[in-house]
Amino acid sequence: MKIKLEGSFDASVKFFFEDQLDSLEKNYYDYFEKTKVFSGKKDEIYCLVGPNEQEVFVGLGKADESTLQILRKQSYALGKSLKEHKISSAGIEVMDFKSKTNNRDFCALKAVDAIVEGLLQSAYRFDKYVEKTEDEEINIVLQVREGYEEKAKRSIEETSNLMEGVFLTRDLVNTPSNDMYPETLAKAATEKLSTVGVHVKIYGKKQIEEMGMEAFLSVARGSAKEPQFIVMEYLPVEGQQPMAIVGKGLTYDSGGYAIKPASGMVTMKCDMGGAASVIGTLYALGLNKVKKNVVGVVAACENMISGDAYKNGDIISSMKGSTIEILNTDAEGRVTLADSLYYAATKIDPEVIIDLATLTGAAIVAVGEQSTILISNDDEWANRVEKAGDDMGEYMVRLPMNEELREAVKGDVSTVKNSVSSGGGGSITAGIFLEHFVEKKPWVHMDIAGPAYSSSAYSYLPKYATGIPVKTLYKTIFDQSSSKIDMEEL
Ligand code: BES
Ligand code: MG
Ligand code: ZN
Repeated sequence: MKIKLEGSFDASVKFFFEDQLDSLEKNYYDYFEKTKVFSGKKDEIYCLVGPNEQEVFVGLGKADESTLQILRKQSYALGKSLKEHKISSAGIEVMDFKSKTNNRDFCALKAVDAIVEGLLQSAYRFDKYVEKTEDEEINIVLQVREGYEEKAKRSIEETSNLMEGVFLTRDLVNTPSNDMYPETLAKAATEKLSTVGVHVKIYGKKQIEEMGMEAFLSVARGSAKEPQFIVMEYLPVEGQQPMAIVGKGLTYDSGGYAIKPASGMVTMKCDMGGAASVIGTLYALGLNKVKKNVVGVVAACENMISGDAYKNGDIISSMKGSTIEILNTDAEGRVTLADSLYYAATKIDPEVIIDLATLTGAAIVAVGEQSTILISNDDEWANRVEKAGDDMGEYMVRLPMNEELREAVKGDVSTVKNSVSSGGGGSITAGIFLEHFVEKKPWVHMDIAGPAYSSSAYSYLPKYATGIPVKTLYKTIFDQSSSKIDMEEL
C-alpha cells in the first residue's frame, strides 16, 4: 500500500455520516434511498464498480457519535474492500470532519492519521512461513483541504513509521520460539534499532552473573539457550533524564516444573510480547526522530525444564538482594522483571519506568482479551498512559493495589513470594510483586497477557500478534517530547 497526496486514481472514495447523507450527489441519494444498499452506518461500505466509474461509499455512523476508532476500523475495511474488488488505485476525499460535526474527537489531521492507520493495518500479513503470493500494490491518494498538504504529509509519514514499529512487534512475536530465542531476539533488536539511532548493548550469561541478577538467571537456567540482557538506548536529547521502558522477554514459557498443559503452552512464543513492544516502540521513535530520551530494557530467556532448572519451593536471591520464594515456576515473568526493573531504577535513573508484560492469565479473566491492565504507584503517569490509550484506540483498565494484597505478597521465609495461592487478584498481586523492585520510582505496569496475542481477529487487528500496546506507549512518549510542540506549531 502506497499513500500519497497527489496522483491519478481509478476509484473515488467518500466518507459519509448517516445523518448527513444529503451531501451525496442527487442520483446516488435517490438510488440509495430506493435500494437501501448504503445508508452511512458505521459498518457499511458500498463499492460501485462499473466499466466507466468506480465509487466507494464508506459509512461512519451518526456524526455526533462517530469516533476516530470508527474511522480507523472503516479505513481498514476500506483497504480490504479495495483489495477484494481488485481496485489498484483510489482517491480518498478527506472531508472536513470537524466542520461537519460538533464532535470533539475529529480534526482534519487526526482523521488523516486514523485513515492512514486503518489502510496500512489492512495490508499487514505475517507470511514468513508460507508460500509468498504476489499482491498488486494499492495506490492511495489522499485529497486534503488546500493549505493542509504539509501537515498531512507529516501525518502520513509519522503514522506510517508508527505502523512500521507495530508491524515489527507483530513479526517478532509471531516468529516461533525455534527461531526466536534470546540470541536471535537480541540480534533482531541490534539489526533493526541500529539503523534508527538506537544504541543496543547485549550482556551474555557471564555479565548477567557479574551484575548479580540471580532472579533472572534462575528462570533462565532450565534452558539450553543462553540468556541475554538487552539494553537499548535512544538518547537524541543531550542531558535529558530518560524514560525507561522494560519488556518481559520470555521467548518461550513452558511453565517450567509447574508445567503448562499443551493447550496453554502452544501460544507461549507470545511471552516476549512486552520485549517486542519495547523494540517496536523504539523503532518507531527512531524512525520519527522523536525528541525524547528513552532506554529500553529486556531480560530475554526461556522458561524450560531440565536437571538444572529452578524448582517449585526454591528460595532465590535477586539483584536487589531481596529473596524470592518460588511457589510456582510458571510465575516466572515477574521473577525476570524483578531484576530488569531494579536495573532500570538503579542504573538508568529514569523519570518513569513503564513495564510491559504478558504477565498473568488472570488479566484475561478480569478484563477480557482486548484490554490491558494498568497498575501504578503514580496517578499522573497512569493518567498519561490511560489518555494515550484512549487517543490511540487501545483499551487500558487501571486496577488498584491495596494493603491486604500487599500483605499477601510478603514471604514467610523470604522477602517476597512469586505466587499467591488464595484470595484472587492474581494480576494485582503480580503488580505488587513488581512494585517491590522499582525503588519508589514513578512506575506504570501494563499487563498485556490478553491483548498482545489474540485468539481471533477483531476491529482492525489480526489474529495472533497484535502489536498492542506499541501505539499507546509511543503516544505516551511522544506527548512528553518536544516533537509534540513542533507538530502543534506546524
Ligand atoms: N506467560 C504467562 C501468562 C499468560 C497467560 C500470558 C496467558 C498470555 C496468555 C505467565 O508466565 C504465567 O504463566 N502466569 C501464571 C501465574 C500463576 C502461576 C501465578 C498464570 O497466569 O497462570
Ligand atoms: Mg508462566
Ligand atoms: Zn510467562
